[in-house]
Amino acid sequence: MTEKRMSWAEPFKIKMVEPLFMTTPAQRVKALEEAGYNTFLLRSEDVYIDLLTDSGTSAMSDRQWAGLMLGDEAYAGSRNYYHLEEAVRKYYGYKYLVPTHQGRGAENILSRILIKPGDILPGNMYFTTTKAHQELAGGTFVDIIVDEAHDPRSLFPFKGNVDLAKLQRVIDEQGAERIPYVSLATTVNMAGGQPISLANLKAVRALTAKHGIRIIHDMTRVAENAYMIQQLEEGQGARSVAEIVFDICSLTDGATMSAKKDALVNIGGFMATNEWDVFEEARNQVVLYEGLHTYGGLAGRDMEAMAIGIAESVQDDHIRARVGQVFYLGEKLLEAGVPLVRPTGTHGVFLDAKAFLPHLPQIAFPAQTLAAEIYVDSGVRTMERGIVSAGRDKLTGDHCYPELELVRLTIPRRVYTQAHMDVIAESVARVYQRRDRITGLKMTYEPKYLRFFQARFEPLRA
Ligand code: F0G
Repeated sequence: MTEKRMSWAEPFKIKMVEPLFMTTPAQRVKALEEAGYNTFLLRSEDVYIDLLTDSGTSAMSDRQWAGLMLGDEAYAGSRNYYHLEEAVRKYYGYKYLVPTHQGRGAENILSRILIKPGDILPGNMYFTTTKAHQELAGGTFVDIIVDEAHDPRSLFPFKGNVDLAKLQRVIDEQGAERIPYVSLATTVNMAGGQPISLANLKAVRALTAKHGIRIIHDMTRVAENAYMIQQLEEGQGARSVAEIVFDICSLTDGATMSAKKDALVNIGGFMATNEWDVFEEARNQVVLYEGLHTYGGLAGRDMEAMAIGIAESVQDDHIRARVGQVFYLGEKLLEAGVPLVRPTGTHGVFLDAKAFLPHLPQIAFPAQTLAAEIYVDSGVRTMERGIVSAGRDKLTGDHCYPELELVRLTIPRRVYTQAHMDVIAESVARVYQRRDRITGLKMTYEPKYLRFFQARFEPLRA
């Protein structure tokens, strides 16, 4: 256990810096117009502080960079694959590993193996790519997260929990044979980076075991979830994050991982399973979609950096500083009276755009609008997580209207300083001061899949 300390200050110092570009308001207005008011379509050089995502944006350690030099770029049987397998077994406990180029590569393979047309996938809230692959395989996602997760004002500490009654109802109504697995994420990204408790996970395990249903773990931010369990769950405070991570994984049957988050690499992911049959089929699929089963679309050096990143990611000091920085920003914004999802998430602060811009109807895309306004104000790039991300209803073709209409300020790991956090908070507070004068957007181009990435917008005139 770490001793009690005053500050979340970083357990590292900076050895190399990347200069940032400073822009003028006029340049930013022009850049935003060219990007169709979609922060995903901005050029990174036009951005000062990039909070678009914590995915692939972390700073690697000197050890990880050194690991790149140890890449064994053999087509088959790379030494680095075996290092990665060792790390996955040691820190997560899963038996079999199939590397993939990133998380959605693993989701594709796993969905193709486990889901039949007509199947039902209950989960603790959807994630965009996960749900897309479940649907492509013919499945239907059903939300079984606790109601508190849909209420940005609820202070419930474990908003990632499964509502067991909802899960039981899905099993009773659909039949266990139509449910290949329960889809469980640690933490829940779309709910605002909210954790699931160990007690709840154990209860989900007991219920699914009774019906012979698997749990597939989206373990993208499992160390952050484990840290919140350590901090908040009764009886867990004296245990290390590494121990809790291992426990979480051992309550599930397999996993998909986007190593671009928790595991501190710029690219990479994997699928893991404890079932030999699933592993065998995954090795058949991976050669079609990613590459041979010992590299899965990655260079040997990428797998080495990932193996080292996994070990670093479960260190108490690392995770305490990582989440500490996010909470620091959350506190600053609360002090300024800005409406946020409470409690603050572990990978970012989520602004409640419905409460920030109450005069805008959801069809005027309040969160998309707010992300655009923050960019113009300061060059800080954030991301919409609301009606645009939710996409359209598969049956009716109408927009989905999610309860949560959010702007995500996602903090890359080990990249920005406390002064950067202050700049961000000041900028959001300035936009909040002039919120009454903000008008919404209309969508002028809508792509077929995952529309938030490439959709274009124009301002609605006041
Ligand atoms: N699951 C979760 C919970 C995620 O947050 C992501 C990616 C994925 C799966 C897919 O992984 O990007 O490696 O293919 N989230 C990124 C984000 C894109 O910005 O939140 P991927």
